Amino acid sequence: MALLIRNGEIVTVGSRVQADIYVENETITRIGKGIEAPPNAEIIDATGKLVFPGFIDPHVHIYLPFMATFAKDTHESGSIAALIGGTTTYIEMCCPNRNDDALAGYQLWKSKADGKSACDYAFHMSVTKFVKETESQLRQIVADGTASFKLFLAYRNFFGVDDAEMYQTLELAKRLGVIVTAHCENAELVARLQQKLLAEGRTGPEWHEPSRPESVEADGTVHFATFLENTGATGYVVHLSCEKALRAALEAKSRSVKIHVESVLPHFLLDKTYAERPGVQGMKHVMSPPLRAKHNQAVLWNALALGSIDTVGTDHCPFDTEQKLLGKDSFVNIPNGIPGIEDRVNLLYTHGVKRGRLDLDRFVDAASTRAAKLFGLFPRKGTIAVGSDADLVVYDPKYRGVVSAKLQHVNNDYNAFEGMEIEGRPSVVTVRGKVQVRDGKFVGERGRGKMLKREPSHF
Ligand code: URP
Ligand code: ZN
Ligand code: ZN
Repeated sequence: MALLIRNGEIVTVGSRVQADIYVENETITRIGKGIEAPPNAEIIDATGKLVFPGFIDPHVHIYLPFMATFAKDTHESGSIAALIGGTTTYIEMCCPNRNDDALAGYQLWKSKADGKSACDYAFHMSVTKFVKETESQLRQIVADGTASFKLFLAYRNFFGVDDAEMYQTLELAKRLGVIVTAHCENAELVARLQQKLLAEGRTGPEWHEPSRPESVEADGTVHFATFLENTGATGYVVHLSCEKALRAALEAKSRSVKIHVESVLPHFLLDKTYAERPGVQGMKHVMSPPLRAKHNQAVLWNALALGSIDTVGTDHCPFDTEQKLLGKDSFVNIPNGIPGIEDRVNLLYTHGVKRGRLDLDRFVDAASTRAAKLFGLFPRKGTIAVGSDADLVVYDPKYRGVVSAKLQHVNNDYNAFEGMEIEGRPSVVTVRGKVQVRDGKFVGERGRGKMLKREPSHF
């Protein structure tokens, strides 16, 4: 059925225009004023609303065996939560561990999503070892449409790679034109500092940050950048959390190293005092890199406004209270992760745009367009244009609400952003022309989401 979105303010990077959007067969076919629709078309009145391209979360974990447990969401729950929050595409980290076969892992991750997600999705393929069959397996995975890799410098013996493996992955990525995302923390320093703190009897969640200080992340970032420089590959630092690491990335960029930066919602809005709360309240705010000293937040917002930070993701990774308590005797056993897939767009709009830290153009760029461009989805996703997929967010800037676990669709029993105000939320969300959300409710088709095939573009 055709869909007409009438009289909204259409916001894309570089343009704001009051117009109608007409959609046929999943695709935007016309944009203009006074478009007439056939009698059977579905009509949405967007007067007084903003119309954004569907938002893209470039960093989520849905299926994740990790730290002796599993992240809580499924593609059913995660995609519905994403859509209610305005995210119409997410890129999941496919994370087989070092003992798993990479290709079998890739098939497993795909099978978890297939037919289950209500929004579109893609994968970053984690390279967690480099053995004789790795090159041919990665070639098959890229040919299947997964044109981005992931490296972990941290989590030694599980996801983490050594320098030889990182070099081989980057060298292959350069040849294949594939962008490589990386978690940048020096694994040796993390292990040493964890041991030292535990030996001193420092076991609570407040010691998680000191075990992975800013200098350890900065060192990881420098290290990754040096490998990019010497292989010519294109890299993307995930969840960059602090000024020291940002300086390292930008210094590399100033030397023409092809490096991009993502920061994630928790690091803009939460600081390390959250993880210093007693007991399980602190554990709920443990992720890696850790929540940092507050002064870093202003640095991140400023870099985001300038575009030095390219994208805002979530690193969505839900573990419930019981799972967090796996670390009650030692912070090294607290499952690392903070969910945010449902709240990213509203909190970024509120604390970025409404608080004057971010203009609307950069908001759309950081939360949608830039990720589409970096990860081979543009212009199918990430913009509103004739020929693009009709993934649209009709956004109500007059809505007022408060983030609460009681209201969320993420499969978790707490929300790390509990009590934060939101000034705006999606009133209608479409996935390829089908209305999936209305005013905070999922009203659409489960399993509508498709895996997005992407071509390499970083030669
Ligand atoms: O704490 C985090 N970030 N958990 C998810 C795994 C990762 O490092 O991205
Ligand atoms: Zn990570
Ligand atoms: Zn992650």
